[in-house]
Amino acid sequence: MKRVDDFRLRFGDKEYVPIMIGGMGVDISTSELALEAARLGGIGHISDAMVEDVSDRKFETTFVKDKTKLYKHNILNMDKSLVQFDLERLAEAQRLHIGRTMEAKKGPGLIFVNCMEKLTMNGPKETLRTRLNAALDAGIDGITLSAGLHFGSFGLMAEHPRFREAKLGIIVSSVRALQIFLRKNQKLDRLPDYIIVEGPLAGGHLGFGMEDWKDYDLHTIMAEILEYLKKEELVIPVIAAGGVFTGSDAVSFLEAGAAGVQVATRFTVTRECGLPAKVKQEYFRAHEQDIIVNGVSPTGYPMRMLKSTPAIGAGIRPGCESYGYLLDATGNCAYINSYNREVLANGGTDKGISIMDKTCLCTHMRNFNCWTCGHYTYRLKDTSHLLPNGEYQLLSAEHVFKDYQFSVDNAIALPELEAA
Ligand SMILES: Cc1cc2nc3c(=O)[nH]c(=O)nc-3n(C[C@H](O)[C@H](O)[C@H](O)COP(=O)(O)O)c2cc1C
Repeated sequence: MKRVDDFRLRFGDKEYVPIMIGGMGVDISTSELALEAARLGGIGHISDAMVEDVSDRKFETTFVKDKTKLYKHNILNMDKSLVQFDLERLAEAQRLHIGRTMEAKKGPGLIFVNCMEKLTMNGPKETLRTRLNAALDAGIDGITLSAGLHFGSFGLMAEHPRFREAKLGIIVSSVRALQIFLRKNQKLDRLPDYIIVEGPLAGGHLGFGMEDWKDYDLHTIMAEILEYLKKEELVIPVIAAGGVFTGSDAVSFLEAGAAGVQVATRFTVTRECGLPAKVKQEYFRAHEQDIIVNGVSPTGYPMRMLKSTPAIGAGIRPGCESYGYLLDATGNCAYINSYNREVLANGGTDKGISIMDKTCLCTHMRNFNCWTCGHYTYRLKDTSHLLPNGEYQLLSAEHVFKDYQFSVDNAIALPELEAA
C-alpha cells in the first residue's frame, strides 16, 4: 500500500515532498505555518491578502493608520473612487512580509505566495503589478495566482529579472479556465510551472456556481485537465486541491496522475495557523450542518464558511478608507450597495441594521470574523483529543504534515496527549 512519501513533486531537477499547504488569507496561513512546510521538504504558502495590515501587525509599520488618516474626510462618502493605494507603500509592505519570511526559511522545501486577483484594490492592474513584482524582488520561491485569475497576469511581471526563474502557478477549477489562460499567455513563451486544480470542497472562495458546486468532483476535473495537457503535449505538474483529508486521499490523486496535493483545512487547527485560539475551537466543534456555501462575499464568488460566522448579518460601515482591498476600478464594492440600500430603508442611519446578502469582507477577514473553511472541517474533531476542559488539543503543523506524508489506510494519527 502506497503512502504520500513514495511520491515526489519535481520542479526541474529538484524534488519535494508532494504536499503544498494552500494560501489562506488574511494571514491564516502564516509565515510560521509556511516555514514548517518548507522545513519538512514540502511547499508552504503565505498570502498577500491585506498585506499592509499584515505588515502593521507583524512589523509595527503604520500603513493602515496612515491611509485612514489620509482619507478620513471621505468616511461618510459612499463614493470611494479617490481612496487609492500608494503603490510605493504597497510594495514596501509586500517586500517586508515576504522578505522576512524568506530570510527565516530553513530546510529543503519552498515558500510560495498566494495572490488573489479579486483583490482589485481600486486599481486592479497597477496594484497587482506592484504586488507581483515586489514579491519577486523579495525573493519569493513562487507565486500562485488565484481567485479571479486574470489572464494577463504573467505579462505584468514579464520584465522582472526573476520572471523565468521563480515558480509561477495558477489555480483553476475547470479545463476551460486553463485553456483560456494558456491561450492568452502564448506570446509570452512562459508556461505555468504548476497548475493547482481546486475542486468544490475547498475553503475560501470557490470557482463554481452557488447552485452547481455540488455537481462537480475533483477527480473528474483533474482527469479532464490531465487529458487536455497530454493531448497538447504539455508537461506541467498538476496539484489536486479541495477535500484531500487523509494521506490515502492524497495517494488516490497521486496515483491518478497528480504531481502533488494542496491541503489547508487540516492545518487550520494547528498552533502555527493564524486564526485566534477561540476560532480554532469553533472549527474543531463544527458539525456537517454547520458548514455552508453562500454568496455574502462581495467578490461575487461563492464562499464556504461556518454558519455561525459573525460576519453574516453584520451591518458595519464600509471600512474602505482603511482597507479597500475589494474596491473595483471605479471605487465601488458590492457591500457598499447593500449597505446603502439598508441605511435608506432604515431612515438614513445604520444603527441596528443587519445586512444579510453581502458582508464587509475586508474588515471581517482582518478581524478573523469571517470563518471561511473547507467542507471537511466537521472531521477535524477526529484529528485530535477532546480535553477534560472541553477544548480540543491543538496540533503542530509538523504532526499534520507528517500524518499526510506517512499514513496509510485512511488512518489519521492522533497527537500525543498533552499533560493537563
Ligand atoms: C480558512 C481557509 C482560507 C482560505 N483562503 C484562501 C485564500 O485566501 N486564497 C486561496 O487561493 N485559497 C484559499 N483557501 C483554499 C486553500 O488554499 C486550499 O486550496 C483548499 O482549501 C484545499 O482544500 P482543503 O481545505 O479541503 O484541504 C482557503 C482555505 C481555507 C480552509
